[in-house]
Amino acid sequence: MSGLMICSRILPVKQIASPTQVEVFFDADDIIVSKTDLKGRITYANKVFTDICGYSEAELIGQPHSIVRHPDMPRCVFKLLWDTLAEGREIFAYVKNMTRRGDFYWVFAHVTPSFDAAKQVVGYHSNRRVPDRRVISALAPVYAELSEVEKRHRNGKDGLAAGTQHLLDFVKAKNVPYDQLVFSL
Ligand SMILES: Cc1cc2nc3c(=O)[nH]c(=O)nc-3n(C[C@H](O)[C@H](O)[C@H](O)COP(=O)(O)O)c2cc1C
Repeated sequence: MSGLMICSRILPVKQIASPTQVEVFFDADDIIVSKTDLKGRITYANKVFTDICGYSEAELIGQPHSIVRHPDMPRCVFKLLWDTLAEGREIFAYVKNMTRRGDFYWVFAHVTPSFDAAKQVVGYHSNRRVPDRRVISALAPVYAELSEVEKRHRNGKDGLAAGTQHLLDFVKAKNVPYDQLVFSL
């Protein structure tokens, strides 16, 4: 019995759920809020977040934010997110996330560095609102294409580079910066 208890304690929190085709929603008045440390490990999660993702606050704290990562999300979008944060800038992005059960929910995320009094970045903060369905309709095929481009390469690094180039080309063709692109789709 003690063996089982030890096992359950060391098991990772993330359930190995397969993605379902079920979309779940949160209210237009609600904001999903989380904060992370510099490595993207969750340090704060509000109730809207715990309610929608299905993990308790205790389960989320200390976990990497990729705990809600959906496999449909292209890796290059997260590279853009981290590159932007590394420059000390905020970013707006549409993100498809996965709940503990494998269901999905789309968010319109604003992610920003948190600064201390000495203007040093001490972590990151994200507020997510209900997304615009028209933007999701426009972006979902683009994300699918980016994932496809990434998977064409056997080497992960090459795939990420190819996806990033594809994303930059797409943004360039639209003639607006990525953070404004999501507002103009
Ligand atoms: C403040 C903050 C919020 C984030 N929110 C999400 C999120 O909601 N969903 C997500 O998949 N990744 C989010 N990320 C990005 C993750 O840290 C991670 O880069 C991403 O899930 C890809 O993970 P992987 O590189 O392990 O595949 C967030 C990062 C930060 C700093």
